[in-house]
Amino acid sequence: MQNNTFSTLFVGQNLIKLLAVDSTNSFLKRMVSNSEPLPEGTVIMAENQYSGRGQVESTWHAEPGKNLTFSILLNPSFLSIQQQFTLNMAISVAIHRALKNFIGEGLTIKWPNDIYYKDKKIGGVLIENILSGSRIKACIVGIGINVNQEVFDDHLNDRAGSIFQILHENVNLISLLVEICSHIEAAYLKLRAGNYITLREEYLNFLYRFNVKANYRQNGEIFEARIVNVSEQGFLSMETENGLMTYNFKEIEFSQP
Ligand code: BTN
Repeated sequence: MQNNTFSTLFVGQNLIKLLAVDSTNSFLKRMVSNSEPLPEGTVIMAENQYSGRGQVESTWHAEPGKNLTFSILLNPSFLSIQQQFTLNMAISVAIHRALKNFIGEGLTIKWPNDIYYKDKKIGGVLIENILSGSRIKACIVGIGINVNQEVFDDHLNDRAGSIFQILHENVNLISLLVEICSHIEAAYLKLRAGNYITLREEYLNFLYRFNVKANYRQNGEIFEARIVNVSEQGFLSMETENGLMTYNFKEIEFSQP
């Protein structure tokens, strides 16, 4: 569907709205595997995503009709596999900027790419790459934002939050989608122009717990550390009592404050 709501060049210009789907990422991946001719920037959004997927095989829960669950198709063939984290940075910086226009202060990016308000997660990103040799041929950027949901299941209650809980009012889902897509397009074009340095600076500026001492957990052991850097490949560097340590995804967990 061509639409005029978006003032972007390509992200969101082809918007496919579904009433219900297992996962917008899986749906888009199936379309790409079936060689459906889809323009770059195609967005698949679902009112009800009943089998949403999160990072490392987790599940993404979103109350139907109240939240944003969508996936964007990008073709970043200018990036090699080694550079894939730069896209994660660009996407999380863009979401942060877009949400800031609605929420104001208090938003951060929790490494690698969760969106936080104070100590609660209000958004998550699942990026799935389709490779061709050593280049990224297609990339499915799945984004879930907790928007107008008022309550969360007990097991999520202490960790998940929503924009409604912050603003105490509903936000129009399409307006928020348009804002996010336009910031994603701007950050993506910046990346395509080779401007990694400012994106990384912004990512570090917005990083949750950057440069502050806090507790982390590795193999059940709690330790105190201070985040000092995130490399271009996405490794987290922390100052610990044993000196400077570097961690890969899921090697450590952030302890609840
Ligand atoms: C995470 O924080 O674990 C990532 C969550 C990503 C959720 C989004 S919702 C839209 C898209 N489709 C999915 O199945 N997952 C992503």
